[in-house]
Formats: sequence, C-alpha cells, structure tokens
Amino acid sequence: YRVMTQEQLNRRRLLKFLLASPFFAGLTQLDAAWSLLDDVISSPEEALNVFDFEAVARNTLPPAHYGYIATGVDGDATLRANREGFKHFQIRTRRLIDVTDIDMSVEIFGKKWDSPIVIAPAGSQRGFHPDGEVAVARAAYAKKHLQILSTVSSTSVEEVIEARQAPVWYQLYPTDQRPIARALIKRAEAAGCTVLVLTVDIQGGSNRETEKLWAKRDTRECSACHEGEVFTEPKAYIARKPMFEGLNVSRVTAIAPLDMTWDYIKRVRDLTSMTLVIKGIVTKEDAELAVEHGVDGIIVSNHGGRGEESGRATIESLPEVVEGVQGRIPVMVDGGFRRGTDFFKALALGADAVAIGRPYLWGLGAFGQRGVEAVLDILRRELQTIMRQAGTLTIPQISRSHVVHHES
Ligand code: FNR
Repeated sequence: YRVMTQEQLNRRRLLKFLLASPFFAGLTQLDAAWSLLDDVISSPEEALNVFDFEAVARNTLPPAHYGYIATGVDGDATLRANREGFKHFQIRTRRLIDVTDIDMSVEIFGKKWDSPIVIAPAGSQRGFHPDGEVAVARAAYAKKHLQILSTVSSTSVEEVIEARQAPVWYQLYPTDQRPIARALIKRAEAAGCTVLVLTVDIQGGSNRETEKLWAKRDTRECSACHEGEVFTEPKAYIARKPMFEGLNVSRVTAIAPLDMTWDYIKRVRDLTSMTLVIKGIVTKEDAELAVEHGVDGIIVSNHGGRGEESGRATIESLPEVVEGVQGRIPVMVDGGFRRGTDFFKALALGADAVAIGRPYLWGLGAFGQRGVEAVLDILRRELQTIMRQAGTLTIPQISRSHVVHHES
C-alpha cells in the first residue's frame, strides 16, 4: 500500500481527530468520511476494501451525480443506522472444523447462483460512467452475480440482457398510469425477464437533502442531459429514460402511485406470469400480508436510507420479516452491506441473499466495469474469509446460532 508523506500523515491525523468529534459524528457517516482523506487509490487492484472506491468516485464524479449516490433522506439518520445496525449483532465463531472447501452458492426460485451477493437496482448509471448499466452487466456476467435492473435505468432492458448474457430481474416503478405499468411489465417479459421486483418503499415520496446540497456545488448545466426531479416533476424525469421510450408519459404524476394497496399486487399478478418480489418490506405484519397475497419473495429494504427517515436499520428489521415469512418464500435484504461479516450476519438471521447498491456504484464511478468486478471480488473474498473463520462451509450452515444480538 502507499507510503504517506509526513504532511499527508499529519493531515490524516487532523481529519481523524475532527471526525471523532461529536460535531462531525452528527453530520457525517463515518465510513463516507474516510473518503475525505487524500490517500485515494489509482487502480482497482490497490483497493483494500470497498470504501476505497467511494473515495475515488467522490473525487471523480460530478458533485451532483456523487450526491445522488450518497444521499439519504432528511438528516441521513436511516442511512447511518443501516451501517450502525451491524454493530448490534456479533458473530459466534466455531472452531476446529475443516474449512478447506467453502461453497457460497445459493438457490433462489430454482436457480443456482455462485454467491448470495446480488446487484440491487439503481437508476441512471450512465451518470456514473459512460458504459453505465452495460458495464455493470458485463461485471455481473464475468463474476456470475444476479443483477436487478431499475425502471429508471439509463440503458434499456434489452441492451442490459445482451451484456449480461442472461435475463436480469426487472425492478418496477409502476407510475400512476396503469397502461404504462402494463407496457413496462410486458416489455420486461418480452425481453426475457422471469422475475419482477416491485418497489414499495417510496410511495410517500422522499426528501433527499444531501443530494440537493451536493447539487448546489455543481456548476454544470444539468438541463443538457436531464430535466425534472423524480418526486416533483416525474413526467419530465422519466421522459428521457429508455424504458419509457414510445410511451405517453404526459399524465404521470408519480413513479409510485399514492393509492397503491395490496389489491395492486393482485392486479400485477393478473398481468404477468413472472415471479413477483416486493422490495421495501420492513415489518412482520407486511411480510405476513405479502405471503397471504401470493408474493413469491421479499427484499427487506429501506431503499438504502432513501425512503422514509425511520432511523431503523434493515439488519434490525430482517429478523421480524423472517419470522413473519416462516420459511414460505425467499427473503433477501439490502442496506449498508459493505463487509463480508455484514453478509454473514444477514445470512445467519435467515436471509437467502443480500443485495448491494452503493458499493458497486462506487466501483462503476471509479473504474467502470473493472471497478464493479473488483468490488464484487472483494465482497466475495471477505464473505469466504468469515465463513472459514466461523467454521461454516455452506450458506445453509450459517445459522441463527452464529450471531448474537445486543441492544447497545
Ligand atoms: C437506489 N435504489 C433504488 N431502488 C429501486 O428499487 N429502484 C431504483 O431505481 C433505485 N435507484 C437507486 C439509486 C441509487 C443511486 C441508490 C444508491 C439506490 C435503492 C437500491 O436498490 C438499494 O435498495 C440500496 O442502494 C441498498 O443500500 P446500499 O447498499 O446502497 O446501502
């Protein structure tokens, strides 16, 4: 790793001191704060962990685009909670087990994947690298990961599937116009998608202040590439997105309808034979309702702290959702997963797979496809390490007894 000059060391010490002060603790997510330090990597191979990519992305991307990745809502308390939640669970490791052969594979909806690490849907990826979703799809193909594509992607589902060389899961923002929801579903289905992921956690809107603060620092002319804000001017926002091409968006007033209820699930069911997953469930009650309404899978998610400011980590929500589901359908989770040990904890609590958002977007913004591949490599390696250390040879062997929960 890099040898630091005395000046860099001094600066680092000062920043460490400042970051440890209560003033900074209230303002900044500590992990993100590390990227204020100036020892930034210059190639993916140099990275020690996924946070190294955030530092590069932060330095490389236009401020408004970096702000879109970084933002939570209100004061970013939920964003921070997603990371802090992991501290409430500790790992119970077992000793003297032959850990030569580790198998990280999982089966979801009858399909086997080499690892439980899934690429979460995220909009507008060409804002982070010119190859956008295609670079991510190529990395997902090279490293054999499941990829979920966002409705508000900057690349069409057909192009992404070509680059992934296999169908991706399709995430749906239905809008408040039923013909549009129908058209999006039919297009995803025709492209070969077999799983539809309905996102249900931004129905009440989303107040992304950190995004606005970063945008203020951006002096470029944004209207050259995009118009409209997703929650206040959705029709302008989606008008340029490839999945809405050819659709009449003039009456769209929301990407997630305000009047969406459990009946809507039935309607989606009637429209498609795709496997249906709901993304954004955080309570036992809703997990039970999801099963009752014939949903095939759940992603426990608070949109990476970008929905409501609940202040609650998804790793804290996971156990009650698992309890509500009672093993009847797969449960996946996302929100703040950055370390192999984070994945391990979720798997121990009953998750069947775990998705990542920002880490692969940092990799993409920093080094394109190579960056995404490196992030996936690091996370798989870290998960393998903790599986060895804990004496768990397969994912199903990672059980509830491998974690313990402490409130403080
Ligand atoms: C997202 N997320 C998201 N979710 C979704 O269902 N549709 C979408 O279009 C997007 N877009 C999006 C953009 C960006 C920049 C981010 C960071 C996130 C949420 C995403 O799928 C996932 O739930 C979180 O990113 C997981 O949290 P972490 O890993 O980012 O902490």
